[in-house]
Amino acid sequence: MTRTVAVLNQKGGVGKTTVVLGLASAAWARGIRTLVVDLDAQANATWALGVDPSLETYGTGDALKASRSGAATDMIVQSGWGDDVWLLPAAGDLTERDTDTRRETTMARLSRALDGVTEGFDLTLIDCAPSLGLNTASGLAAANAALLVVEPTIFGLRGIGPVLDLIDDVWTEHNPKLDFAGVVLNRVPAISNDAELRTEELHKMVGRKAVWSPSIPLRVVVNRAHGERAPLHAFGGEGRELADIFDRLLRRLRRNLS
Ligand SMILES: Nc1ncnc2c1ncn2[C@@H]1O[C@H](COP(=O)(O)OP(=O)(O)OP(=O)(O)O)[C@@H](O)[C@H]1O
Ligand SMILES: [Mg+2]
Repeated sequence: MTRTVAVLNQKGGVGKTTVVLGLASAAWARGIRTLVVDLDAQANATWALGVDPSLETYGTGDALKASRSGAATDMIVQSGWGDDVWLLPAAGDLTERDTDTRRETTMARLSRALDGVTEGFDLTLIDCAPSLGLNTASGLAAANAALLVVEPTIFGLRGIGPVLDLIDDVWTEHNPKLDFAGVVLNRVPAISNDAELRTEELHKMVGRKAVWSPSIPLRVVVNRAHGERAPLHAFGGEGRELADIFDRLLRRLRRNLS
C-alpha cells in the first residue's frame, strides 16, 4: 500500500469529488503521478477527468468483484488531463457491490485489486460515494489516510459522527495503517456568522488541528472546471485563488502521508 487517500463523507454534495479533482489538479500541475479511483456510481470524477463512463468496459465495480490481487492493473486508463493523471473509472456494478453481504471478503477487495497498481503512482485519491456502505468501507480499507470533506452548516456537521465511527471501525478491524488525516472545509461563504459558528463547533468535535487550513471558498470557477472537464490549474488568473489553495492542501496531504 502506497500513499492512498480516501476522500469521504456520507452527506452528498459537500464537495468530495471537487476536493479529489482539486488535489489531482494540483498534482497535475506539478507532474506528480496520480491515480484517481472513482468509487461512486454517479461517476462524476470519471466524467470530469475526461473519461466517458458509459464507454468504459471495466472499472471499479469489476475490480471489486474480481477479488484478485492486482485486478485493477488492466482496468486503469489515462485521464483526459494527460499522462500524469490516471483513473480507475466508475464502471461495473458499484451499486450491487455496495450491498454485497459477504462483508469480510468485500472489505479487502479494493486493496487487493490495487495491489501492485498504486505502487506505480506517487498518490492515489479515492473518491467515495455519499454513503457509509461497503464500497466506502473498502475504500478506507485500501487507504493510508481518510480525509473528510465538510460544509460548515448545521446539516453539514450532523452526519460527521457516523463517518468518524466507520473510520475507527475500519482502522480497528481491517486496516491498522489507516490514519485520520483531518477535515477539509468546503463551500465556505465569504461572510457568514453561521459558518464561523459551525467551524468553531467542528473544532470542538475533531480538534482544531484536525481542521485543515486553508478552507475552500464558494467559487464559480469550480463548476466551470468540472463542466469543461479540465484541471483548475489550467484556468490561469480565474482559477489562481483555488489553485493556490489546492497546492497548499496537497502539500499538507503529502506531509501527512510521508
Ligand atoms: N467550493 C465550491 N465552490 C462552488 N461550487 C462548489 C464548490 N464545491 C463544490 N461545488 C459544487 O457543488 C456541487 C457538489 O460538489 P461535489 O460533486 O464535489 O460534491 P460531492 O460531495 O462529491 O457530491 P456527491 O455526494 O453527489 O458525490 C457540484 O456542482 C460542485 O461543482
Ligand atoms: Mg462526488
